[in-house]
Amino acid sequence: MKLTLRIWRQAAPNQAGNYDSHELTKVSPDLSLLEALDQLNEQLINNGERPVNFEHDCREGICGSCGFLVNGQAHGPLAATSVCQLYLREFKDGSVLTLEPWRARAFPLIQDLMVDRSALDRLIAAGGYCSTGTGQAPDGNALPVGRQQATSAFDTATCIGCGACVASCRNASASLFVAAKLAHLGQLPQGQPERSTRAQSMQERMTQEGFGSCSSNLECEAVCPQEISADWISWMHRESLR
Ligand code: FES
Repeated sequence: MKLTLRIWRQAAPNQAGNYDSHELTKVSPDLSLLEALDQLNEQLINNGERPVNFEHDCREGICGSCGFLVNGQAHGPLAATSVCQLYLREFKDGSVLTLEPWRARAFPLIQDLMVDRSALDRLIAAGGYCSTGTGQAPDGNALPVGRQQATSAFDTATCIGCGACVASCRNASASLFVAAKLAHLGQLPQGQPERSTRAQSMQERMTQEGFGSCSSNLECEAVCPQEISADWISWMHRESLR
């Protein structure tokens, strides 16, 4: 198939950026979009040009490293799919795909499609952990957790921290990310000792890092590759009041 990639190129944060168009001919529809970028980068390197910078690691939808906008949508047009799992067969032959980095104040651009998402790490450091000394891993049956409780906690623990929720929110809010971390820990016995301060400290840090407040548009839920429900944002606010 034939494909045109219109890619945001910006060599450094303090330099002007622009869109570069590259036509890929005779690409297999079974390539992933990241593999198409690999192919393009090989061509660019062979021509002595700078390759496109984009982040990736597992390419299996589990690590959260990848992420950029495809035609304005975080991770592209498919629901519950990270961009590394997006295949060219999902697009019509001859499509033009515009690829842009996450755009959010808290995610400063590094180069091209790659942004600095370390603000999410600092949100975790502000309270998204259990600091209670637990010693050796306890026997699985020593601390019973109800089935419903465990399933609900796991639903939020699946957050891969890709930042798509931030990139799709018009206020660039990290509410869904923070809510997922709070709900993951707050529903389990291990998360109880610091529960009373965790919600406050993580939300304060969210503001300090330059994330906005929840826009209530639910775009975060729509683009989340793990389909984490925005209902957890309401849960987070109840947690703050509690
Ligand atoms: S590269 Fe790991 S989730 Fe996409």
